[in-house]
Amino acid sequence: MRRSLIMGNWKLNGSLSMLAEFITSLSDQIDALKMCDIAIAPPAVYLHEAKKQLKNDRISLAAQNVDFNTGGAFTGELSPQMLKEVGAKYVIIGHSERRSYHQETNEGIAKKFALLKETGLIPVLCIGESETENAQGLTQTICAKQLDAILAKCGPDAFKNSVIAYEPIWAIGTGKAATASEAQKVHAFIRQHVSKGKDEIAKTVIIQYGGSVNASNADEFFAEKDIDGALVGGASLKVNDFLKIAQSAV
Ligand code: G3H
Repeated sequence: MRRSLIMGNWKLNGSLSMLAEFITSLSDQIDALKMCDIAIAPPAVYLHEAKKQLKNDRISLAAQNVDFNTGGAFTGELSPQMLKEVGAKYVIIGHSERRSYHQETNEGIAKKFALLKETGLIPVLCIGESETENAQGLTQTICAKQLDAILAKCGPDAFKNSVIAYEPIWAIGTGKAATASEAQKVHAFIRQHVSKGKDEIAKTVIIQYGGSVNASNADEFFAEKDIDGALVGGASLKVNDFLKIAQSAV
């Protein structure tokens, strides 16, 4: 009923030549990847070129951030409509790197979430706890707070047609992934929390795991019933590794 979504978040990496290589390799392999949806999130400057080169609509594009304004004097920002125009289907918001290096707040992220939905783009909301919070047993409390900001702004149906990426901060880029069963427990909690008893939302919301996913551990995550694919950072920068992760999708 839910299709796994494997998304490569290139972060501040990539080039036009890397983009061309990815599009060629992914396009060649996509027919074999029947079990999942595939998306890449290169830096936004490459989206337009990616859209021009993509001939297969099974490969989608995502942006890594967006502003919560629709236009005006906001130097350096990009609006949802602009991202849509250059080919984005998904937009990652609330990534822990943006929360920590750019002081993004739950309230600002909720504004972005609302605006993306109004624009017809699919938010990929990143949530997750720090290592200290994890050690203090606060994982569910932190995730609930991050999710509640969205529910407060957008109402009980907020997560209809949306994606959540559970990314424990201590697992991002560290090589120290959560175990699949640890992640499964948090995913089950998230699914129950966002659906507020609405079966349709519980059954359809895509909840990805992110944090040191690679070609060797992906299948353990994807075997868990509430883990619907992955938001992949480092291992998404080599097309063969990214393809191997997508091949593990069930
Ligand atoms: O957006 C992706 C996540 O931050 C995970 O990054 O796979 O390098 O740990 P990573």
